[in-house]
Amino acid sequence: MYKKIKVNLKDNAYNILIGESILKNISDYIEEYFIYKNILVVIDEKVFSNYKKQLNKFFKNKYSKLNFYPLRVNESIKSFSYLMKIHSFLLEKNYGRDTTIIAIGGGVIGDLAGFAASTYMRGVHLIQVPTTLLSAVDSSVGGKTGINFEGRKNILGSFYQPKLVVVDIEFLFSLPKQELTSGLGEIIKYSYLWKDDFFNFLNNNYSEIYNFNKVVLQKLIYNSLLIKSKIVVKDEKEGSLRKILNLGHTFAHAFESNLNFRVKHGQAVIAGLVASFYLSNQLGILRNEDLKKYISLPSAIKIGPFLKSIDNKTILKIMGSDKKNRNGQIRFVLLKKIGEILLDVNAKSSQIYSAINKTKKLFN
Ligand SMILES: NC(=O)c1ccc[n+]([C@@H]2O[C@H](COP(=O)([O-])OP(=O)(O)OC[C@H]3O[C@@H](n4cnc5c(N)ncnc54)[C@H](O)[C@@H]3O)[C@@H](O)[C@H]2O)c1
Repeated sequence: MYKKIKVNLKDNAYNILIGESILKNISDYIEEYFIYKNILVVIDEKVFSNYKKQLNKFFKNKYSKLNFYPLRVNESIKSFSYLMKIHSFLLEKNYGRDTTIIAIGGGVIGDLAGFAASTYMRGVHLIQVPTTLLSAVDSSVGGKTGINFEGRKNILGSFYQPKLVVVDIEFLFSLPKQELTSGLGEIIKYSYLWKDDFFNFLNNNYSEIYNFNKVVLQKLIYNSLLIKSKIVVKDEKEGSLRKILNLGHTFAHAFESNLNFRVKHGQAVIAGLVASFYLSNQLGILRNEDLKKYISLPSAIKIGPFLKSIDNKTILKIMGSDKKNRNGQIRFVLLKKIGEILLDVNAKSSQIYSAINKTKKLFN
């Protein structure tokens, strides 16, 4: 059994299936959703070695064209050379336009294989099968694909919607704690975008993810994806509303960049949320009592000591060159109340420094 969310985009609607041990029925889904049956599975090598037997069984004797393409994952494979490797393999094996790429892995595999799917023969079918908590609640849905280029993250890419997303929570049971925390960062972010109910549920239950509590994991993933899909449907290509998904991310991206990405994305997001709440408070947007209430959750999570290595001046410089800026102005996504987000807010350097310093102190 699975729960289903329909991402009701006008031209590219698709479904997200969320459940435990549901990938075994992949062939049924491919049939049901009229997905092409010439299949290339681009898969995280670690996941492949853990699940090889099962995966072979799920796909066995069902497809005339089926290949697995395992990749050793690190951020550096989100590159032209790996994109070309996938394209070359597709050509070598004679894949045509009636191809489906199934991306099984975290955000790195999803972004790279998604970009490969969007560019091969002007676009072939794509199924996302996220295997990290971060990719389950975030990167597998929304259609952003891409690679890094000339040291800039996600600077080349496309909006390309999958035909289907299968979130099989069984994959998550082998994740190390740090990866769970990374996914939790994005879940925490969603909890400010919607209703008090979800925020309260998360406050009371977040620690259960570390016990791999299936009920809690499913509920958190379902609610996160429900929020993300509602936003994506209203603003597929980040014209405006979708920017609310960047709450905390202006700071987070700068922290990651300052540390040459030696910190997990979701951990940086947790610190970024706190910094953006301090900034919201300083600008008179967020009331003192709400600030206290909202930072209690992220500040309870152990994100490690990375903030100690952050240099405020460098952060400001990085923020100044963010691709989301307009007219050279840094624009923040700030919080007024749960469900009330302000977009494109400017701030003075002194206010930004102060928000970072308070965040450093809080996590010290
Ligand atoms: N497209 C989007 O909207 C979007 C959104 C957020 C992040 N991203 C991108 O996602 C990437 C980060 O994704 P991520 O955090 O999933 O990292 P990742 O893909 O690098 O995976 C993290 C680690 O977990 C391992 N792993 C994967 N599945 C596992 C499993 N089931 N059990 C044990 N280990 C497993 C991987 O091998 C890797 O070592 C970044 O490149 C980021 O830019 C994209």
